[in-house]
Amino acid sequence: MPKQIKTAKLTLDDKTYDLPVYAPTVGPDVIDIGKLYGQAGVFTFDPGFTSTAACDSTITYIDGDKGELLYRGYPIEQLAEQSHHLEVCYLLLYGELPTKAQMIDFETRVTRHTMVHEQMHNFFRGFRRDAHPMATMVGVVGAMSAFYHDSTDINDPWQREVAAIRMIAKIPTIAAMAYKYSVGQPFVYPKNDLSYAGNFLRMCFSVPAEDYVVNPILEKAMDRIMMLHADHEQNASTSTVRLAGSSGANPFACIAAGIACLWGPAHGGANQACLEMLREIGTVDRIPEFIARAKDKNDPFRLMGFGHRVYKNFDPRAKVMKESADEVLNLLGIHDNETLRVAKELEKIALEDPYFVEKKLYPNVDFYSGIILEAMGFPTSMFTPIFALSRAVGWIAQWKEMISDPAGKIGRPRQLYVGATMRDYAPVETR
Ligand code: SDX
Repeated sequence: MPKQIKTAKLTLDDKTYDLPVYAPTVGPDVIDIGKLYGQAGVFTFDPGFTSTAACDSTITYIDGDKGELLYRGYPIEQLAEQSHHLEVCYLLLYGELPTKAQMIDFETRVTRHTMVHEQMHNFFRGFRRDAHPMATMVGVVGAMSAFYHDSTDINDPWQREVAAIRMIAKIPTIAAMAYKYSVGQPFVYPKNDLSYAGNFLRMCFSVPAEDYVVNPILEKAMDRIMMLHADHEQNASTSTVRLAGSSGANPFACIAAGIACLWGPAHGGANQACLEMLREIGTVDRIPEFIARAKDKNDPFRLMGFGHRVYKNFDPRAKVMKESADEVLNLLGIHDNETLRVAKELEKIALEDPYFVEKKLYPNVDFYSGIILEAMGFPTSMFTPIFALSRAVGWIAQWKEMISDPAGKIGRPRQLYVGATMRDYAPVETR
């Protein structure tokens, strides 16, 4: 439990209530209102949780004003430059960077779990070929609880550990199978002598008819995209995983819930929506028309890939992603990419527009990622599944942290009820 540093006083109807205030290691202090209802008979009201800390955590810290993102204290820019996704997985799960021996052991454990139960192949065949890969992933990841019973007892630390390894190891395989199924190509088994990112690329793009060699440029870009998406504090999908887990649901069901939440265009679905928006804009001369629509209160259109609940400065991941987009497209010899040109001009115009400046709307992680993924050969329908497979480690790390907290209890928010007061049933003849 955090340490109380001072007391906040709430005065209501001439009564004053003392509320403990806790200090973080970094970031805003928090006021503990856990006993407020019992003391004052009132709820607090914060739809969207704009001012509410739902838990204490040691995993990821975001400073929205400075545009800072730390995984266990390490800045995302340094990790993106010097680390790799599996090392970041270790860091998020266990709290420290691994020694060489620890990394070898972790990598071996993950690599040895990359195959899925052969019977799971039948699951895919139950979907229509044109099913969105996110629909398939929600279904198949949820079904993991029907195949891996020996790692669903959340009260057994060893089973929690096995479930975490299985989730990180198998979700790229499942995402690749969802893709292969959608394009009518045979599933590709993982190959244990490849890197995590290289294995995923091969499972997506290799075909039995010819040899496949992992392109190191794409492998590095894929690995960096995975690192950048790995965790992000208490975002909507992570909060979904935590809430599902607070009831004691098994980890695979909780991750499936997180995947479902991530699919929304306001959240992880924004990378697909953003690329489709850039394609719809088409050319630089049409940007003003879309900027005007984004500012029009009567038009539901928003600039996808722009804005963020927490970042009121540049999303540090967007900066790394933008550099990576330039690097990957150049290395791939794609120089006249109209979509990238439109994205850069749109960013420039928007950041000079008073509407976006006043509302502190900057490009977020989803603004450039789609350009890289498209250049790598992925259809837009695979953008959010790639976000999901990257975020799986963050979800499972946050789930483990919550489950192992002895003070944990089921999440059960209250409400401001504004519906009908009690009234008697009226027989249909009288209505
Ligand atoms: C992710 O939470 C996380 O950490 C998420 C994430 C992660 O790693 O898990 O970072 C991943 O989900 C990134 C966000 C991807 N979504 C998009 O790019 C969709 C477009 N963005 C918006 O829908 C919006 O910015 C949100 C949903 C991201 C944030 O919405 P908020 O915090 O609820 O803010 P808001 O909707 O109240 O907007 C504040 C104002 C509004 O205007 P007013 O009502 O105050 O006049 O800004 C406007 C909005 O209309 N606004 C936009 C805008 N985003 C906000 N106007 C035009 N275009 C936009 N993109």
